[in-house]
Amino acid sequence: MRKAMAEAEVGDDVFGEDPTVNALQDKVAKILGKEAALFVPTGTMSNQLSIKAHTQPGDEVIIEATSHAYNFEGGAGAALSGIQFHCLKGVRGILQTSQIEEAIRPDDHHFPVTRLISLENTHNRGGGSIYPIENMTRICQLAKSKGLYIHLDGARLWNASVARGIKPSEYAQWADSVSVCLSKGLGAPIGSLVAGTKPFIDRVHRFRKMFGGGMRQAGIIAAAGIYALDHHLERLKEDHQNAKRFASGLKEFKGISINPEDVETNIVLFDIAETGRTSAQVAEAMKKERVLIHTIGKFQIRLVTHLDVTPQDIETALEVFKKIFH
Ligand SMILES: Cc1ncc(COP(=O)(O)O)c(C=O)c1O
Repeated sequence: MRKAMAEAEVGDDVFGEDPTVNALQDKVAKILGKEAALFVPTGTMSNQLSIKAHTQPGDEVIIEATSHAYNFEGGAGAALSGIQFHCLKGVRGILQTSQIEEAIRPDDHHFPVTRLISLENTHNRGGGSIYPIENMTRICQLAKSKGLYIHLDGARLWNASVARGIKPSEYAQWADSVSVCLSKGLGAPIGSLVAGTKPFIDRVHRFRKMFGGGMRQAGIIAAAGIYALDHHLERLKEDHQNAKRFASGLKEFKGISINPEDVETNIVLFDIAETGRTSAQVAEAMKKERVLIHTIGKFQIRLVTHLDVTPQDIETALEVFKKIFH
């Protein structure tokens, strides 16, 4: 990847003249079955540009209550687009059509205008859960019938695709905008893309400028993305196997609450309330043993597998758990 970055042909992308960025954008648009795609630095920016381009201030965006765009993007929806989120509680992040149908506002001047539905696949705080394609299709058909837009936060759409054997373009077919990330499991150091129709991406391009996301010789980082898509997609299966193995190992510890069946991709969430320790104490103890973990609540822990985590690392981490919980 570093070699591909060093050898990348570059130009000024603010003028659309970087051949490597253009190649990446064409490649991702094709993979997602969309007319066009635009390269941006982060998944946060690609989500927020999509929200901005779909909505007017005062509009309402229906979203799952634990979703990334609502919880972990610094309040950007309100600050940058002036929208309000209408949050619905899903099961491991997954919403049902009936919930969304009920949440769509009637055409009455008292209410905000429901404009957009934002879905996250895989779902981060849902523990890497995968939207069943039938479910997504029904939600998208409902949106079309009501004249609403659909945004797909596909930061980890690759994981859903590899785990289910469903093409990214199939997941994306109903979405008016799709965000995908090249960092995270794919292993590029930076980069996300928004994909959609050509006029939509033209609009996003204008807002990318406004949000300060225009980059110059960005081919250096786009080359990393092309390399990641060419070499690191299929291997996501290994991350999923590692996550599964880790979850089965954790299940053996008394007091750790986890259902390995819930681990569908590369994220492992579990609860340690019954162990008598807090997640902060466990994180501290594990850090001393050189295993870094992410606490997401007093008793909740989130672990992620990726291309730098080997099956041996999983066994090592389980050994450390054993040491701490005995
Ligand atoms: C589902 C989801 N969407 C968007 C993002 C934002 O990506 P970034 O960290 O590149 O801004 C993340 C980050 O973890 C995520 O999990």
